[in-house]
Amino acid sequence: MVSYEKILTKNMDTPGYMGTLPEYRATGGYTAFEKALKMPPAEIIDIVKKSGLRGRGGAGFPTGVKWSFIPKTHVGQRYLCCNADESEPGTFKDRQLIERDPHQMLEGIGIASYAIGASVAYIYIRGEFDLGAKIIESAIQEAYQAKFFGKNLLGSGFNLEVILHRGAGAYICGEETALLESIEGKRGKPRTKPPFPAVHGLYQAPTVVNNVETLANVPYIINRGAEWYASIGTPKSPGTRIFSVSGHVKRPGNYEVPLGITLREMIYTCAGGIRNDKALKAIIPGGASAAFLTPAHLDTPMDFEAIAQIGSMLGSGGVTVMDEETCMVQAATNLLEFFYHESCGKCTPCREGSSWILQVLHRIERGTGRASDLDLLETLCRRIEGVTVCAFGDAEVAPVLSTLKHFKEEYVAHIEGRGCPFQPNVELVMAH
Ligand SMILES: Cc1cc2nc3c(=O)[nH]c(=O)nc-3n(C[C@H](O)[C@H](O)[C@H](O)COP(=O)(O)O)c2cc1C
Repeated sequence: MVSYEKILTKNMDTPGYMGTLPEYRATGGYTAFEKALKMPPAEIIDIVKKSGLRGRGGAGFPTGVKWSFIPKTHVGQRYLCCNADESEPGTFKDRQLIERDPHQMLEGIGIASYAIGASVAYIYIRGEFDLGAKIIESAIQEAYQAKFFGKNLLGSGFNLEVILHRGAGAYICGEETALLESIEGKRGKPRTKPPFPAVHGLYQAPTVVNNVETLANVPYIINRGAEWYASIGTPKSPGTRIFSVSGHVKRPGNYEVPLGITLREMIYTCAGGIRNDKALKAIIPGGASAAFLTPAHLDTPMDFEAIAQIGSMLGSGGVTVMDEETCMVQAATNLLEFFYHESCGKCTPCREGSSWILQVLHRIERGTGRASDLDLLETLCRRIEGVTVCAFGDAEVAPVLSTLKHFKEEYVAHIEGRGCPFQPNVELVMAH
């Protein structure tokens, strides 16, 4: 693997670094915000566009382009929302950024808010991040005291209030419009789009929603330039990315690497290979919503395009690795239990379909599956895919469709052998 410079995790890798404001300042922290406040907002958007930065929350949408969608003629309130919900199973990089170096995110929030003309920024943090919420709260207070937040920042005339909003533990509230509903005090259910948040967002005002890691990149882009950032990674997927690697690897953890390294480098070089030197069986490359891949895909570059081309997605950057002893029917069932539990219930295909899929998976795993169940699973999935208000529907069918595609023989072995060949006496507790 080529040598590379870490950006977002560099400070926190320094022994003793606690992420306080004085420490962050000592590494050049908030100089990008000071610089940005002297620039016209349109120039900042242009730099971020040119850098090629793409959203790290899941969809990989170009960040500068998203900022430019805020209607220029709009007079009145605009909002920035930082998405710190991080509920995607297998993903834990935003948590590290929040707990270990929160001012990077806060500085990014400051710059993004100024660029889009938002005088109020919300940070929506998942309910379970208790420590993270306390750390952000104290970092926000530090930033107010240092006059990075508040009124007339550094004499620019720009005002910014930053508010931490704690969620209550619903996965769907990571979806940007459900997040907005939740901040407004309503049940977290996705809105139909269009209109997109850039036009009708929080309290119907123009709003940008960006992920923690996306925003944390912004200060470095402003300080070191769009060309520098674009020179890292691949032409269409620039920059570094923090991948959360978990499962059957020797060294699970967060790894910041340039986009475009191969899955093989990620699993075998960064994460030390498969635990107990077993054989690799399956990889989820981008959180639970991403389709399973196989060892045949190991030499695929980890960038948005290459992973999409092989039928999966880079998603949230959560890489889950499974060894040869993993039952793929159980793995898919495990994820479906999660999705069934988290379906918000707004769309009938997702609400009802997840229950049916789970029932079929449970009976296959328990040994009472029928030969017709494989076609039934496929049909159920196809009736959810692409027809729901948000991408949750596509996410919940991905584990089933991709295990059916790559590991069909395991489903057949369960049905013909009347039970799980990996754990013959498995007892599943029905989730409903
Ligand atoms: C079901 C669902 C859950 C999501 N959860 C998260 C999340 O926890 N964190 C996040 O940043 N984005 C999440 N997203 C993506 C957001 O809707 C949105 O695209 C993202 O916050 C935009 O930020 P970005 O452009 O910086 O990536 C989720 C999307 C869906 C459909």
